[in-house]
Amino acid sequence: MSTLITGIAELTTHDPDGPGGDGPFAVVLDDGRVAWTGRAADAPAADERVDVGGRAVLPGWVDSHTHLVFAGDRGAEFAARMAGQAYAASGIRTTVAATRAATDDALAEGLRRHADEAARQGTTCLETKTGYGLTDVDEARAARLAAAVVDEVTFLGAHVVPADVDPASYLDDVCGPMLEAVAPHVGWIDVFCEDGAFDEIASARVLTAGAERGLGLRVHGNQLGPGPGVRLAVAHGAAAVDHCTHLTDDDVEALAASDTVATLLPACDLSTRQPPAPARRLADAGATVALASNANPGSSYTTSMPLCVALAVLQGGLTVEEAVRAATLGGATALRRNDVGTLAVGARADVQVLDAPSVAHLAYRPGVPLTLAVWKAGRRLP
Ligand code: NIG
Repeated sequence: MSTLITGIAELTTHDPDGPGGDGPFAVVLDDGRVAWTGRAADAPAADERVDVGGRAVLPGWVDSHTHLVFAGDRGAEFAARMAGQAYAASGIRTTVAATRAATDDALAEGLRRHADEAARQGTTCLETKTGYGLTDVDEARAARLAAAVVDEVTFLGAHVVPADVDPASYLDDVCGPMLEAVAPHVGWIDVFCEDGAFDEIASARVLTAGAERGLGLRVHGNQLGPGPGVRLAVAHGAAAVDHCTHLTDDDVEALAASDTVATLLPACDLSTRQPPAPARRLADAGATVALASNANPGSSYTTSMPLCVALAVLQGGLTVEEAVRAATLGGATALRRNDVGTLAVGARADVQVLDAPSVAHLAYRPGVPLTLAVWKAGRRLP
């Protein structure tokens, strides 16, 4: 079944060979892939024709950082934060207790509900992490449930040390039996390298164990203050270091000189009353930047990639084009995928239509739901 999407006023493909000049443009999807892009007047016939009436079309969002296998609610913690309390990693343990107590069905239902919520806002490729189980059995369960729903799954046993557990023996578990238990379900390993979570030596051990087990590497770093996260991620060749809120000039230079993507989480910075991550400095230095939602019940309870794009422009100083690229191609690079985040011919047919003539409206009209239609792998989402 092929689909011709036509009447496109502004087409973002990220394809150097894609159509330039003035529209209207068109895209053909066939067998789950992008089959053709070009001027509408030159478009080939297809089984089905959708005229978007002068609107903007772009790749679906690639959300490369979420924590969606969880139960419970931390609205009271959020309200206390807005009344002046600081965000602390220890809040994670509240969600760990609720998640361990939840049934498989309840966790799967919550994950699906949040994944559907993201899809309705244009997210077509989704990563999620374990990290609210923190026992071999609970982490393996989270990884298995996640693998049934999302595109990419990351093991985050090294999120915090659980209450009443000896840190040294917990690290042995994360790098040994827990890693073995989750490995069949995950492609990535991550570590929260921060005061109150894991220090540089412990984080390096987690990354080394994951690499030896054949997993790709990701790091949570420099979220709540300056620290070794970026340096560690770059030294280990991690695909991405996420948060990057507090960066030194050396951190920025190291990222710019590396293949490690700086994944910024602007909704998290906002919800934890941190300063906006230095998006402009990173982009000017030549670092590859991604944007992700960090959807989780503690520090960033939103699945909205349009919000992240708007914040990266309005607070982070990116241009609209840079922010859109970071939320699509940047996320794909952070996940080391070349089949998503682009509308180059042959890419997965992940497409979104905005109810607007240009992507500029994502920041020009912040908070307004602009997602009009979404296709994932060529199938239109309800
Ligand atoms: O990415 N930083 C660590 N993990 C999450 C927070 C999770 C939570 O507070 O529950 C994050 O912000």
